[in-house]
Amino acid sequence: MTERCDLLISNVNAATMDPSLPGGYGAVEDAAVAVTGGRIVWIGPRRELPECAADQVVDGEGQWLTPGLVDCHTHLVYGGHRASEYARRLGGESYEEVARAGGGILSTVRATRAASAEQLYHGAEPRLKALLSEGVTTVEVKSGYGLELDTELKQLRTARRLAQHYPVDIVTTCLAAHALPPEYDGRPDEYIDLVCEEILPAVAREQLADAVDMFCESIAFTVEQCQRVIDRARELDLPVKAHAEQLSSSGATSMASKAGALSVDHIEYITDMDVAAMAENGTVAVLLPGAFYTLRETRVPPVDKLRASGVSMALSTDLNPGSCPIASLRLMMNMGCNLFGLTPAEALAGVTRSAARALGLCCSRGVLRAGLRADMVLWPMETPDQLAYEYGALKPSEIFFGGKNVTAG
Ligand code: NIG
Ligand code: FE
Repeated sequence: MTERCDLLISNVNAATMDPSLPGGYGAVEDAAVAVTGGRIVWIGPRRELPECAADQVVDGEGQWLTPGLVDCHTHLVYGGHRASEYARRLGGESYEEVARAGGGILSTVRATRAASAEQLYHGAEPRLKALLSEGVTTVEVKSGYGLELDTELKQLRTARRLAQHYPVDIVTTCLAAHALPPEYDGRPDEYIDLVCEEILPAVAREQLADAVDMFCESIAFTVEQCQRVIDRARELDLPVKAHAEQLSSSGATSMASKAGALSVDHIEYITDMDVAAMAENGTVAVLLPGAFYTLRETRVPPVDKLRASGVSMALSTDLNPGSCPIASLRLMMNMGCNLFGLTPAEALAGVTRSAARALGLCCSRGVLRAGLRADMVLWPMETPDQLAYEYGALKPSEIFFGGKNVTAG
């Protein structure tokens, strides 16, 4: 480290989430962190801090510092809402029944196609602000409510535009294979042709997506159709992920893992073979307890088996107008523990280190370590266990994005 730095935070306890340090949090008590050029240049026990002149010094007052949170699976940009469908489901209709009757994802497709880019942008802003107020510094945003080239592009451009105006990195994913659009009714293979031959190449040409996703389910696409989307994405040099095994078991998780997917998401219905395929290929399990909760599902993902097999488990909001209209990653930490059996330390790893891995970004964020981005959150708490345990009153006291203090208000 040089003898001067931009920012020095001292008198903090760091939940580094560094797996090479002991304990679930990789905790360093009474720590100091030095930042230059938006990156951490030194972190460790304060007494070992080398001589350093800082442009700005922050006294952490004994609070806890964590990595900036990463929400690795959202459908943040969409038109309309589905409150009436929620009431129908409370009345007994299932998610699949609503979808088969032309509602569900297709209802949001109609609203998203009808919305202007400006309307989509302003609709997404309050949801993004809610995430940012909780210390989220990286958000993945999927398309998938266009299901035609122009609207898919409109969604992805809107997502990119949000990052120009808010202190957040937005990672975009093309989810054109989300549902069968009505104009292709009865012709799913032809729609997959459109995805592979028109939509994905255009998105790749404009560099509008960082990855490609798909929904493999009886109300969406088959494993074979998803395999075609994966093959095309690989040809275009785009990493892949999949909505898999959410409502039934299909083999999508094994297929996607063997094809090198970054993550498979939902996975309530995976088998032991799927878990083995994920472990073997380093595929991250993205757990979405908010969708499980909202749809009042009963089958939980096999967390014990994933843990025993060493599969990284991320947690995310899945923020979307159907299965999870809940803009809180902190609440997902609590649900991940209460509903799925994660430990509080696993929940924090799930929204930092493992979420970064699910996006292919583990070299740049998700852990407090020299060389990584200085995305960091200071919390007024006595133990990091409070992040999963408490909800509502515990808010970040400071948020740093690329080393800059971006705390709102
Ligand atoms: O992750 N499973 C498919 N897609 C979304 C839900 C989209 C919607 O209902 O609008 C999900 O749950
Ligand atoms: Fe989703």
